[in-house]
Amino acid sequence: MNDESRSTKFLEDYAPPDYLIKQVSLDVRLAPKDARIASTLSIEPNADTAAGTPLVLDGEALTLERVAVNGQDLEPGRYTLAPGKLTIANPPMGAFTLDIVTRCDPEANTELQGLYLSSGVYCTQCEPEGFRRITYFVDRPDVLATYTVRVEADRESAPVLLSNGNPVETGEIDGTGRHYAVWHDPHPKPSYLFALVGGNLASVHDSFTTASGREVALGIYVEPGKEDRCDWAMESLKRAMRWDEERFGLEYDLDVFNIVAVSDFNMGAMENKGLNIFNDKLVLARPDTASDADYTAIESVIAHEYFHNWTGNRVTCRDWFQLCLKEGLTVFRDQEFTGDVRMGPVERILTARLLKARQFPEDAGPLSHPVRPASYIEINNFYTATVYEKGAELCRMLQTLLGQDAFRQGIALYFERHDGEAATVEDFVSAMADASGRDLAQFMRWYTQSGTPELACSLDYDAHTKTAKLTVSQVVPPTPGQIRKEPMHIPLKVGLIGANGDELPLKLNGELVQDGLLEVTEREQVFEFEDIPAPPTPSILRDFSAPVRITSSLKPKQIEFLMIHDSDPFNRWQAAQTYATNLIASAARNGLDLEPVSGTQAGRLAQALEPTLRDETLAPTYRAETLKLPSESDIARELGRDVDTDAILMARDTLRTTLSTALAATLTEIYEGSATDGAFSPDPDSAGRRALRNAALDLMSATGTPEAVERALRHYRGATNMTDAIMALSVLSQIPSPARDEALEHFYARWQDDPLVLDKWFAVQARAARPDSVETVQALLGHPKFSLKNPNRVRALIGSFAMANPSGFNRADGAGFRFLADQALEIDGFNPHVSARLLGAFESWKTLESGRQAHAKAALETLAGQKLSTDAYEIVTKTLGSA
Ligand code: TRP
Ligand code: ZN
Repeated sequence: MNDESRSTKFLEDYAPPDYLIKQVSLDVRLAPKDARIASTLSIEPNADTAAGTPLVLDGEALTLERVAVNGQDLEPGRYTLAPGKLTIANPPMGAFTLDIVTRCDPEANTELQGLYLSSGVYCTQCEPEGFRRITYFVDRPDVLATYTVRVEADRESAPVLLSNGNPVETGEIDGTGRHYAVWHDPHPKPSYLFALVGGNLASVHDSFTTASGREVALGIYVEPGKEDRCDWAMESLKRAMRWDEERFGLEYDLDVFNIVAVSDFNMGAMENKGLNIFNDKLVLARPDTASDADYTAIESVIAHEYFHNWTGNRVTCRDWFQLCLKEGLTVFRDQEFTGDVRMGPVERILTARLLKARQFPEDAGPLSHPVRPASYIEINNFYTATVYEKGAELCRMLQTLLGQDAFRQGIALYFERHDGEAATVEDFVSAMADASGRDLAQFMRWYTQSGTPELACSLDYDAHTKTAKLTVSQVVPPTPGQIRKEPMHIPLKVGLIGANGDELPLKLNGELVQDGLLEVTEREQVFEFEDIPAPPTPSILRDFSAPVRITSSLKPKQIEFLMIHDSDPFNRWQAAQTYATNLIASAARNGLDLEPVSGTQAGRLAQALEPTLRDETLAPTYRAETLKLPSESDIARELGRDVDTDAILMARDTLRTTLSTALAATLTEIYEGSATDGAFSPDPDSAGRRALRNAALDLMSATGTPEAVERALRHYRGATNMTDAIMALSVLSQIPSPARDEALEHFYARWQDDPLVLDKWFAVQARAARPDSVETVQALLGHPKFSLKNPNRVRALIGSFAMANPSGFNRADGAGFRFLADQALEIDGFNPHVSARLLGAFESWKTLESGRQAHAKAALETLAGQKLSTDAYEIVTKTLGSA
């Protein structure tokens, strides 16, 4: 770390690079403690670079051995080495060649950025700034080069040698036990997309023929013995490749596409050109080891990384402020894919739920930032729900406003203009505007203004004129650094429903409104619908058409009505969520002085749920989602302040118990009726039936009776796949009993040597809402199979506790906060990326009641006084509000 790393970088300071690097030739000799990288760069000054401008290269954790310009070694006086930089004061005029030889230590690389060893496999992670830990380079995304890479290693320990692009040549180095492979990537790319892999890996192979007839060799590389867990990833990849051709006309552009699964990885996966590197959790699946949720996640992340080949790789980002240009767009694309091939209308429920759970709190807290941030200290901290999930929503809103055809034409125009270049958000939005003829100037505010817009909607019916007046007013709340906000351009889908459940035509100024789409552009706006025969019930923000909060003055009766009659599947689901949220929130509002959840209202909720739960024409997944109550965090968000997580837990449990009893007959019918036998199949329909049955089991268990425990134990014992086993285990883990101990012990005995499955065992215990959760998790830290060095294990135990056990983490005595702070501090010493992410769990501390707030603040202040990485420093100081 150096002083400069803690400085704030600003978007407005962007300047083009002084020098461009057109070609890179790397010779990488792999060795555990001492890898040698020889790099030959073809460099030329950029258009406006004055002669004599110094060439400044980035580099970290490197030992420099040689620098030569046009083949001539530079004397030490001709260059300077400062922390993070290598400067060549007076490079030649015009184009020249730079040779650099450096050494680095893959084994000592615990940050998992740059070149590192994961369980004996050499691999790289360069996004965003890891390439500088491999060699000195102008390590920024607007410097695009073609790469030729020679990788050399011991044949025995690293028989497989991979890099980006197409294979060129392989060979032995006689008498040394070493071998090499040469790869060439013809597509110019930024350094963050560079990758190489060397190791003893098994592989499965397949092929794909593109729409225009190019034959692509597909390979998935995994730890030997795991070959039988690759089928699903391979199927998913082929589905994604076909989908991108059909939906966006985008084809793959190399002869090979390889995926490598590694077990030590900071994030989910990485889209390196032609050589995606994955967290093995997002590749490996077999019915007995992976749940339906894992299958779904694998399919969508395989698709996500593949889709980056166009959105991110062929057109990349000018600078890291533009990160949403590739991430938001690619998340949008993977969501559309998942909707088409798997989830149907349920996809919107899942994405909206994720957005509200992860992005809304971020946007309402001290770390709030625009989808395109204007400044950052550490770019690694900006791979956020706002950039990814809200970024995806902005693309979806553009598609909604323009229509799917014009949106696709906008994408085509974007590629026509920027293929092979580094682009900006403005470039993207201009392509959309030009392709559709629409003015998107006001829409641009979505990229620059942070905070979740709040829309207040009210409907007034005038029986005399037969009109229904919808008044919409928008407020974008103040956020750190942004006090005053301008109104946003918001696509608002609405419907009006007649007393008999009919959809009423929407007529404004004599014209029919298409798809119920209104455009809100002013602070306050009135839409007056004509020819409405009787007072209707409004359905607002259908399909969750914008990432906003809605307040409306609907009465419980109207919400019940929507639960049964709304033709929009999203809002029908949302109505049930709203109803339950209101019940739990009002019960929890008085802290531990609980008002009981109103029995009559809970009964009415049960009654309004029945028709959906029993409707066999509806997809089982949809019915399953209807059975899931809003989470504790959903309730905390609704309360917004003075949050007491124990009161929320208790109120929610009370409603669960009441519903469980009121719906007993329906739940039993679902549970008994949706049992499946026969071989496991991950297809959407089978997964949906499992989801419904497991959701029923979960709610049935809310009573905690011996009978419920017995049922869950039978479910566990009878499980023939991981989906059923882990649901039963999760249910049992909430209720201390011999059955819980039996199941946990059995699961451990069976899976102790399978790290990914064992992660589920850690996670299930970390998530169980128990008064002694902190002590349970603390004890598991000492488990022989636990390691702080492996990010998946850390996320399974510590991450699950901090993010998915609200009453445990926010325990009134502050023990949860201190636990997290201690662990994050220790991890920060060797992997800042992982520690900074864990510390994100503090983002909502200011919404807690004062006692918990004081404990959280104390834990954060203690951290602030320690020696922290740049990553953790930024999160801690901004979370405290002292940055
Ligand atoms: N670009 C990756 C994605 O598709 C994100 C990513 C992978 C990443 N590894 C990383 C980001 C390491 C930062 C650091 O989402
Ligand atoms: Zn991505």
